[in-house]
Amino acid sequence: MVTWSTTPLGRTNRLFAVAVLPQGLEAAGAEELSALGAHTVKPGRRAASFEADMGCLYRLHLQARLPFRLLREMAHFPCQGRDDLYEGVRQALDWERWLHPSMSFRVDVTGAAPGLNHSHYSALQVKNALVDQQRELWGRRSSIDLENPDLSLHLHLSRSEAVLSLDGSGGSLHRRGYRAAMGAAPIKENLAAGLIHLTGWDGTSPLVDPCCGSGILLIEAVLMALQKAPGLNRSFALEGWADFEPELWQQEQERARHRRRRDLELPPVIGFEQDPSIADQARANVEAAGLKDLISIHTGGFQDQPLPDGPGVLVCNPPYGQRIGDEAELEELYRALGNYAKAKAAGWQLWLLSGNRNLTGALRLKAERRIPVSNGGIDCRWLHYDIR
Ligand SMILES: C[S@@+](CC[C@H](N)C(=O)[O-])C[C@H]1O[C@@H](n2cnc3c(N)ncnc32)[C@H](O)[C@@H]1O
Repeated sequence: MVTWSTTPLGRTNRLFAVAVLPQGLEAAGAEELSALGAHTVKPGRRAASFEADMGCLYRLHLQARLPFRLLREMAHFPCQGRDDLYEGVRQALDWERWLHPSMSFRVDVTGAAPGLNHSHYSALQVKNALVDQQRELWGRRSSIDLENPDLSLHLHLSRSEAVLSLDGSGGSLHRRGYRAAMGAAPIKENLAAGLIHLTGWDGTSPLVDPCCGSGILLIEAVLMALQKAPGLNRSFALEGWADFEPELWQQEQERARHRRRRDLELPPVIGFEQDPSIADQARANVEAAGLKDLISIHTGGFQDQPLPDGPGVLVCNPPYGQRIGDEAELEELYRALGNYAKAKAAGWQLWLLSGNRNLTGALRLKAERRIPVSNGGIDCRWLHYDIR
């Protein structure tokens, strides 16, 4: 991994921020932030806090693969209830500069403070503080836009303190812009990237997903090996911030573009998918990601498919019954997967995302590592097997 050297942060150029991360990937996420130049990175629960200068914050938006969002702290103030929140928000920022009535906004709230136990209610207080002030200043107010706001605000309440932040992405960072087709029970791109990071796959050995669904694990793996920045094909809310620095942004975009490895010869990267329409969706996603020549999707059950010369890495997010499939039928699928690995993949590594312990027992393989992660709220394990 390239490590970015940055000058020490001075008082004036220091920003405090938080990366919101998938549960279980906090340490991996913190490693990624540090490697991209963030300072004082501290992993927490579903998040990591850090310090950065503006260039680094831009870089993280363009290049970090693991966070859902990056929150830039703008103000914190004591908050003992509704009135403190209302006043604190009014004074938090020079709103005349930051939120003109022609801009739409949204407010998200996490945590609680005395008298502020419902995040929806707290968000209404923030909204009221802002639109009341706009009416006083301009005689009109911003509209709320939950989908594509010009300014995305985040309030975190804890004990008697409020932290008001700006979300630089607007929409979640897991949206890379290549996924048109959803497959069945897809995993989010940032979780897929984090899982691949944990396997250590670096593009030098074959990679196969025997139940590839919409192909996200393979796509994220190849994008990571190529060092193709995930944020180059989308827009960000931070481009509309009052202190946006277009030249610095362009400079970071250039740096992100330059990181792409064009010399890398990848070994075979293959997905098997038994459902022909989902296999087509996977191909559409691969094409939209610009990886048509690097990833092949084969239609059919993995049971009938040969593996390329290995050893390599098998990654897999098979159905686990919570969302699709029925447990008895699925047991048969896991048994077949275990047999397939033993018969065809001796010497390979297998990484499997499991949301159901009973089913993984049917693999008849002993896991070397079991890493807890959450997949859309489902408690899962990322299991690592050495196939002998
Ligand atoms: C949970 S989904 C995979 C989700 C994938 N990681 C994604 O993000 O889209 C499991 C996929 O395995 C496929 N599948 C089930 N049995 C299979 C088999 N025997 N061979 C190949 N694919 C299979 C299903 O059709 C389904 O698309």
